[in-house]
Amino acid sequence: MKHTDIKDLFSAHSQHLNKSVTVCGWVRTWRDSKSVSFIELNDGTCLKNIQLVIEKGTLDDQFLKNVLVVGAALLVNGTLIPSERNGCEICVTAIELLGGCPQDYPLQKKHHTLEFLRTIPHLRPRTKFFEAVFAVRNELSYAIHSYFHKNGYKYVHTPIITGSDCEGAGEMFRVTTQPWNAGAKTDAEYFANDFFGAKAGLTVSGQLEGEVAAMGLGKIYTFGPTFRAEHSNTTRHAAEFWQIEPEVSFADLGDIIEIAEDFIKHIIKHVLDNCPEELAYFNERVEKGLIEKLTHVISGDFGKITYTDAVEVLKKSGKEFKYPVEWGCDLQTEHERYLTEEYFKKPVFVTDYPADIKSFYMKQNADNKTVAATDLLVPGIGEIIGCSEREADLEKLKAAMKKRNMPLESYAEYLDTRKYGSVPHSGFGLGFERIMMYVTGVQNIRDTILYPRTVGSL
Ligand code: 4AD
Ligand code: MG
Repeated sequence: MKHTDIKDLFSAHSQHLNKSVTVCGWVRTWRDSKSVSFIELNDGTCLKNIQLVIEKGTLDDQFLKNVLVVGAALLVNGTLIPSERNGCEICVTAIELLGGCPQDYPLQKKHHTLEFLRTIPHLRPRTKFFEAVFAVRNELSYAIHSYFHKNGYKYVHTPIITGSDCEGAGEMFRVTTQPWNAGAKTDAEYFANDFFGAKAGLTVSGQLEGEVAAMGLGKIYTFGPTFRAEHSNTTRHAAEFWQIEPEVSFADLGDIIEIAEDFIKHIIKHVLDNCPEELAYFNERVEKGLIEKLTHVISGDFGKITYTDAVEVLKKSGKEFKYPVEWGCDLQTEHERYLTEEYFKKPVFVTDYPADIKSFYMKQNADNKTVAATDLLVPGIGEIIGCSEREADLEKLKAAMKKRNMPLESYAEYLDTRKYGSVPHSGFGLGFERIMMYVTGVQNIRDTILYPRTVGSL
């Protein structure tokens, strides 16, 4: 179907002005007067609608009734003419009805609540809010790839189905082809009969395979879906989310923190430069001061504090937290948000957590209590990045795994990387939907992804 994207009409309108144009799209709204009808048409290529002007008599009256319908899909011919409101509009000569739209179309009103729109995920991409979300998501993805590409990282594709639980939190979804009534007497028998002849699940993180790749390719990153059967029913947790995981050989914790900060600033700047209309929309409708916040973030330094000092700050804050703070406790969202929102008032790296609350693969510090790990916390959300230098010493790594009762034989290949030419290396995982929330101001993770997957909701 030969036609012009509405975005191109607006961006290069002098080239099309007073010429015949063809556009396609869906009717967002329409209004009628004695002599003309107006339609706001949107094709998803930009937030703005193009206005169609239909003079009475141009189209058959009966046909016009099927066209002046919210949600109807049209192919439109006409002349692009200047207009005061939007720069240009189309004086219609002919319309083809591509798809009619009956009265029960749920998006009749101009504004719907996000809760309501969550009940119709298949239709919400036709709203301005979700057009803006997906435009930012697209630019953010592009910025992530371009950052790593220009810095010499290789994009690797780590497996989705895996036998190893990277985070060791027991949150893996199982993958099986066995019938529910397989009738095995033991777990071993059940898994032996299964598709892979072993227990398999959906990956919670591409890190372990990413490390394998980095210990040969030098600098790599992954960008793929990860899955966690977490029962946390919060606005920041999804069972299926996308993660960006760079892994860098010959880098210590200080190096990876510098990379993470540079990376976050780069991708935010890209969105500021390339999504001005979308950010203006979110700035007005979702988070007042959003653009100022993002501009501020890319121009200043992120904060940095050790876990041990952070615990002192929290204890002295005079705040009544739901979960009391003691050295050794995992920081809760309320603690994270106090640190980043009230104490630092900017993104902050909390470093050197107690080993006991973190994963097995993190480098053990000389104090024998903490690990060379950091979480990046941001205002409004809390943790968006989990990061660490990896334990490169084979014996120390094995000891950490044994302490956690991990089956070493299942990780034999991973351990080989420490046996054969082990090097210091570090990496992090950025939750893609979390950075989406931060950049758009959107409050619920369910509104940053096409089909949110959360506990109890498929
Ligand atoms: O902190 P996490 O668990 O770290 C890892 O998985 C490491 N293997 C990463 C690495 O070093 N390569 O998860 C990383 C990030 C979190 O900071 C958070 O942004 C996001 O993934 N995340 C989630 N996002 C949405 N829903 C969930 N259920 C999430 N769990 C983690
Ligand atoms: Mg984490």
